[in-house]
Amino acid sequence: MKSVLLLISSLLFRVAGGFLINSTGVSPPGDAGESVNVSLDVSRIIRRVDPRFLSVTVDASLATHEKFMFLLSSTKLRTLTRALTPAFLRFGGTQQDFMVFTPQFTSSFTAEKSCNELELPSWLEEKLTEEWSQQEMLLMSEDRKKKFNRTTYTESTVDLLNSFTNCTGLDLIFGLNALLRTADNSWNSSNARLLMQYCESRQYRMSWELGNEPNSFRWKSGIWVDGLQLGQDFTHFRQIMSKSKFYHNAQLYGPDIGQPRTHRTNLLESFLQSGANAINAFTWHHYYVNGRDTSLKDFLDPKLLDVLKTKTDEVLERVKQVSPGKPVWLGETSSAYGGGAERLSNTFVAGFMWLDKLGLAARLGIDVVMRQSLIGNGRYNLVDNQLEPLPDYWLSVLYKRLVGPEVLGIKVLSIFGRGKTVRLYLHCTNKRSYGDGAVTMISMNLSKRPARISMPAHVSSSTVDAFVLQSEKPGEEGLHSSSVKLNGQVLKMVDDKTLPDLKGIRLPAAEHLELPAYSLAFYVLTDARAAACQTSH
Ligand SMILES: *[C@@H]1O[C@H](CO)[C@@H](O)[C@H](O)[C@H]1NC(C)=O
Ligand SMILES: *[C@@H]1O[C@H](CO)[C@@H](O)[C@H](O)[C@H]1NC(C)=O
Ligand SMILES: *[C@@H]1O[C@H](CO)[C@@H](O)[C@H](O)[C@H]1NC(C)=O
Ligand SMILES: *[C@@H]1O[C@H](CO)[C@@H](O)[C@H](O)[C@H]1NC(C)=O
Repeated sequence: MKSVLLLISSLLFRVAGGFLINSTGVSPPGDAGESVNVSLDVSRIIRRVDPRFLSVTVDASLATHEKFMFLLSSTKLRTLTRALTPAFLRFGGTQQDFMVFTPQFTSSFTAEKSCNELELPSWLEEKLTEEWSQQEMLLMSEDRKKKFNRTTYTESTVDLLNSFTNCTGLDLIFGLNALLRTADNSWNSSNARLLMQYCESRQYRMSWELGNEPNSFRWKSGIWVDGLQLGQDFTHFRQIMSKSKFYHNAQLYGPDIGQPRTHRTNLLESFLQSGANAINAFTWHHYYVNGRDTSLKDFLDPKLLDVLKTKTDEVLERVKQVSPGKPVWLGETSSAYGGGAERLSNTFVAGFMWLDKLGLAARLGIDVVMRQSLIGNGRYNLVDNQLEPLPDYWLSVLYKRLVGPEVLGIKVLSIFGRGKTVRLYLHCTNKRSYGDGAVTMISMNLSKRPARISMPAHVSSSTVDAFVLQSEKPGEEGLHSSSVKLNGQVLKMVDDKTLPDLKGIRLPAAEHLELPAYSLAFYVLTDARAAACQTSH
């Protein structure tokens, strides 16, 4: 093993000499940016994440009017979603704790149909997307007033969710309402049992959650549930599951708490004391900023990106103390809370927070990261209101194709004051896309000028497939763009059933890698022959 350890020993990053041209003009020589040395360790796997690591959510707000759930039958949305497998699809969010299952007992027309028969006619898709835009405005104003209305849903919502996940190949996680309480403030499970009976009768394979961000139950509903009680509620639910013929082996995740602040970590610990045995993974939520109070600067701020490490370390440490070995997931996460930030969360610049989160979370010890959201009320969706893919969607698809679950070591040493505008992560390449031993370097340049990467001799003999994502337009304006270029080509769907080819550019051996300003990139070292990435390993 040792002999292969040094196969790729270091990469030397430096800014190309001379004049560097960019949107803001010409940088004089000497105004060199960062010079970074990097070392890669491809001899051993640091850790392995779940194959469904990059997962997505459907925000429960979509069910505030059941008709909008039919958007999940859109051919286009299904095509886009299929490209994200394997993945979880979590149905949940604030609205989940205000939803009551109200069966109609009429036979559902989705249940027995095949995937093709279920697809939404385009006239209806247009009508629904239009109405959904209006519904979103209504929901946002209710959110601002912190007014949450109780809504009901029928078999139809569950059928459409199951049809969506079954026909796209995702694994459904359904978030139950934890704010149905009894007089002694324990969870009233009667509605959940009714729902489970229905799902069981349909043989819907799915896993479960209970409650969303219980730390803020008080301001959302006036009800306070402490961690100990919540853990007991989970234990109660686990008992119900274990009595079910169909769900006794199903998975339960929770408690979906917000990121650490003092009272939340108290909730975290007391929940685990009474509920750890009931859950298969511990889930928490993370957002970098408040969507109503943020700026472009935040989205490019390496210090802000690093805060995720502090929060993650804190959660991992506490979970380890109370419940060692319990997997920890980001059960809901995005750039900005409060529905995302306009012109930021849904544009090219959001990619830095998203890709850095994926890189950092995998390395630190998170097993699954669920992106808020695929579709739902908010500006952080992967698709826009016409169900057209946004830059973070393309980034996610590339990540799926190129990045495997094995995390490898990469060290960045910077000369200038630890300038962290260059961010790098290393994984084995996804074996579905490339042969044995290939590695994928994930890289980001948050700075406004281009850079040149010099490859060391032993790596430069490996062919490199480069997948460089840049905004459609240069400079700061481009950062707000809702389209993205892969190796210079704007990405868009060929038609509702076809994604474009996502091809890399094969760089001849010994070339320098040009890493443009404000870029996100995957470099596949196709014949790195990394010991850690061999199938036999
Ligand atoms: C990104 O570009 C700037 C300016 O050239 C430079 O300071 C920085 O080091 C570059 N990033 C990489 C990957 O080297
Ligand atoms: C669910 O998936 C299976 C296999 O993937 C398929 O045979 C079946 O038709 C699907 N069911 C529905 C309702 O689409
Ligand atoms: C639980 O909720 C159901 C339905 O609303 C109600 O009929 C039942 O009395 C409640 N049980 C308790 C113990 O509060
Ligand atoms: C990077 O490597 C070069 C050449 O090996 C060396 O001279 C330089 O000091 C290194 N810089 C850092 C920050 O380690």
